[in-house]
Amino acid sequence: VMNPVDTMRVSNIRVSPDGFDRPVVAVNGQYPAPLIRARKGDNFKINVVNELTDPTMLRQTSVHWHGIFQHGSPWADGPEGVTQCPIAQSGEAFEYAFSAGEETGTYWYHSHFGTQYCDGLRGPLVIYDDNDPHSALYQDDNENTIITLADWYHTQAPSLGSGPALSDATLINGKGRRPGGPATEIAIVNVAQGRRYRIRLISMSCDPDYTFSIDNHDLTIIEADGQLTEPLTVQQLRIFAGQRYSFVLNANQPVGNYWIRARPNIGAGSLPSIDSGGINSAILRYARATLDDPATTPHINPVVFQEVNLHTLLNPAAPGGPNPAPADIERVTTNFGFDFATATWNINGASWTHPHEPVMVQLLNGVPPGDVLPEGAIRVLPRNKVVEVTIPGVSLAGAHPFHMHGHAFSVIKSADSDTLNYVNPVRRDVVSTGLNGNTTIIRFTTDNPGPWFFHCHIEFHLVGGLGMVFIERPEDIPNSPPPRSWDALCPAYSNLPADAT
Ligand code: C2O
Repeated sequence: VMNPVDTMRVSNIRVSPDGFDRPVVAVNGQYPAPLIRARKGDNFKINVVNELTDPTMLRQTSVHWHGIFQHGSPWADGPEGVTQCPIAQSGEAFEYAFSAGEETGTYWYHSHFGTQYCDGLRGPLVIYDDNDPHSALYQDDNENTIITLADWYHTQAPSLGSGPALSDATLINGKGRRPGGPATEIAIVNVAQGRRYRIRLISMSCDPDYTFSIDNHDLTIIEADGQLTEPLTVQQLRIFAGQRYSFVLNANQPVGNYWIRARPNIGAGSLPSIDSGGINSAILRYARATLDDPATTPHINPVVFQEVNLHTLLNPAAPGGPNPAPADIERVTTNFGFDFATATWNINGASWTHPHEPVMVQLLNGVPPGDVLPEGAIRVLPRNKVVEVTIPGVSLAGAHPFHMHGHAFSVIKSADSDTLNYVNPVRRDVVSTGLNGNTTIIRFTTDNPGPWFFHCHIEFHLVGGLGMVFIERPEDIPNSPPPRSWDALCPAYSNLPADAT
């Protein structure tokens, strides 16, 4: 476990979670990467040290704190090419210093340099709240009640390309079995009969989404992406890359072993017929149960989980309500698609490519915001606006989980419904787009100056161009100057304004 003030050494080790040995990008010598455990109001100071040496994987790095808004510290957000230059050399370090303000809940951290997190640099980050409004619903909430889901490849990410990558296994808490592979250890979540647990489910996926369930047990969702929800009880849920849920698990069944299931939509074990023998599974084990594999069957219910049924607990009313004054609203449509001729993705015709200097560097150097990237790959957002982003559904390579840096947004319309909710829509930071023109609509307010990446969280699509940057309140960005150590990451760009630190 790491603390909010800590050192994160990024190095290469070899592991074989599913019986296949390969090199990975480890954190402090560990795979899976350790939990960062914080409390509400903590200040973070994480010194990331590049100790990468393996030439088969990326050797530069940069770390993103997924879901943390970085209010007043956009330079610490992490996406290389947007808010910083990479930590380029082995031996080089950079300290990410930020406050999460009032934010609490379930987050994660991951490399934001190319597809590096698929090779291992991905771990949970939880900000615990001593006064959690939902605390009466559960008794246990600790590092043993975190469940991470990750797609696992036998090929190092740089060799997977930007096409459809098929995972070899699903790792739950870093353990898993592959179809046809050996009966390696799988994760066990220990519970005691009669207790209620807050399970924090985190998808650290690079590509697949997962249909998640626990045999014989209901899941009562109370949080989505760091935002509390009204309790919603479901039998299964679908979780997309980058998303998180907290749910209450009531250990009210007979003492025994139960399968925890996470079936990917693509890749290893995506076919229902081979979802057995611990493939795509972990074990929920009651105290005093035998040490055997479960013999339980899937907990299927005709009521399918729909995001539209999730409602925010603490932030009722969507920004602007149903009819914001025309002058207050900034409408953005992000049509996206794939160009088969160039094999690149684009948003409104522009494919995200690395600018010659990171967006933030250009902005601080006085480059006009409209000039930092090709037309379409950026959108400048003014002060005091309700931004309404409409994302048309596209039937290309499945559903696309779009992530917004710097904000949680209200999901006015989710792709799975025609309902428009301006009253109490779920707030979150990753939303799946629809298929066949099923539009998704989100809203947020421009209360956080910074250049914020907005992109598909399928990493292979992002490196293929499926992203853009919202430059929010560019005139206010220089008010949060980066430290000199940030300038030092970009030796070629030495003419940045003097900073306050
Ligand atoms: Cu979880 Cu741009 O990232």
